[in-house]
Amino acid sequence: MKIRVFTDSRIAVAYAAAIVEHVVEAEHHPTLSLATGETPSALYAQLVEFHRRGLSFTDVTTVNLDEYVGLPKTHAQSYHQYMQEHFFQWIDISKDRIFIPNGYVNNLQNECERYDRILQQHPIDLQILGIGINGHIGFNEPGTAFKPTTHIVGLSEETIRSNARFFNSLNDVPKQAITMGLQPIMQSKQILLMAFGEQKAQAVHLALEGDVQTHVPASILQIHPNVTFILDEAVAKACKLNL
Ligand code: F6R
Repeated sequence: MKIRVFTDSRIAVAYAAAIVEHVVEAEHHPTLSLATGETPSALYAQLVEFHRRGLSFTDVTTVNLDEYVGLPKTHAQSYHQYMQEHFFQWIDISKDRIFIPNGYVNNLQNECERYDRILQQHPIDLQILGIGINGHIGFNEPGTAFKPTTHIVGLSEETIRSNARFFNSLNDVPKQAITMGLQPIMQSKQILLMAFGEQKAQAVHLALEGDVQTHVPASILQIHPNVTFILDEAVAKACKLNL
């Protein structure tokens, strides 16, 4: 486990983007697994900038970690829309290499199985993660057994409250999501987890220094052979990391 602390998130993001660029250029047909939310948005902006300066994504496949249940792909807060707005519309990735679970289907179980088949066909070279204030990764929420495969999850109160910042009201936040399970994440060749701001301190502290436990899903990363936590000073200081 590597921990890299940067003065601010801007520099941290530049570091992460350089690693993504390296993987995109070094691998023949790289698969990137992508997160949404506030944390990676600046990373996508940086990668779009790299693209403008010549980095091509034509050989890249992307899989996404998760999607809300009940939001059509065109909904402003769907993760389909997020990815389009922040990343895909600006780069030269081929549409048929983009995979995101669909939370707007009648048969969610079938969708989980369909997504697992896609993940089996596209082992992940580089996994980008954020972390929830409750320690979730993807939408693998605390408190239930670690689940290996794609599944439907009831979002925790904490996650719903935290994600309300993206919606008009708390009531508008979907109560369920479809998420990649922990197996494809743990089988990724390399993982970057980014966490910025002191509100993530407790989650980062428990993920790094606590036991591996289902109450902190991110703690499972302790047993991955190639994971880097990319932090800003705010989170590192607040969780009193000895660096
Ligand atoms: C989203 C995802 C989540 C977020 C986490 C942090 O695709 O997988 O685990 O990474 O909730 O979200 P932000 O970055 O908005 O604080």
